Amino acid sequence: MKFFVDTADVAEIRTLAASGLLDGVTTNPSLIAKSGRPMLDVIREIAELVPGPVSAEVTATDFETMLKEGKKLHALGKHAKDNIAVKVPLTPDGLRCCKALSSEGIMVNVTLCFSAAQAILAAKAGATFVSPFVGRLDDIGEDGMALIADVVQIYRQYASFRTEVLVASVRHPQHVVAAAKLGAHVATLPPNILKQLFKHPLTDNGLKAFLDDWAKTGQSIL
Ligand code: E4P
Repeated sequence: MKFFVDTADVAEIRTLAASGLLDGVTTNPSLIAKSGRPMLDVIREIAELVPGPVSAEVTATDFETMLKEGKKLHALGKHAKDNIAVKVPLTPDGLRCCKALSSEGIMVNVTLCFSAAQAILAAKAGATFVSPFVGRLDDIGEDGMALIADVVQIYRQYASFRTEVLVASVRHPQHVVAAAKLGAHVATLPPNILKQLFKHPLTDNGLKAFLDDWAKTGQSIL
């Protein structure tokens, strides 16, 4: 399972990239707004830090302008052609743009997916990734992880569907575990959730006990 980090905070990404656990980054217009910085600068800097995929979202809603924005965002990539994934919303124009960009070899992340039917459309449009938002479904009393199960199952039926299931809107570590059990390809995690994955009180207590006992020996490895 690949881990992407869901943030536009470049300093945070720099730290997390050093952990060696990061396979990519996702951003969205709300995360860019939260950073308080110009989007193109932010995406350029992230692309320098992370070989990819780095998702950068279009903000137009019509096909022609989306396509222009998508090509401009894709050109910000510093590494190979697979550095930037253009993020498009799951709308008719968004999927038309997905088809056009993916047929030119540009990675596309279809975002704002809330149903299995929408995920089928994304795969047929040639999306590299589809992003079902599990947390937002849970928030309205639906079952986000049931959607992941459906999409994983459906995609497995068709060899022609190459789209990877990117679990988005992750709210807690159990979302990550459940998604991994279902065989989802990717989870994009807010930085605090990524850090929470490390935590277990028995790890902290066990390490403290080992180090206390070691200190009593007066030895040093180096
Ligand atoms: C990722 O691509 C999405 O933009 C993100 O996971 C949305 O998460 P949220 O529901 O916490 O805003």
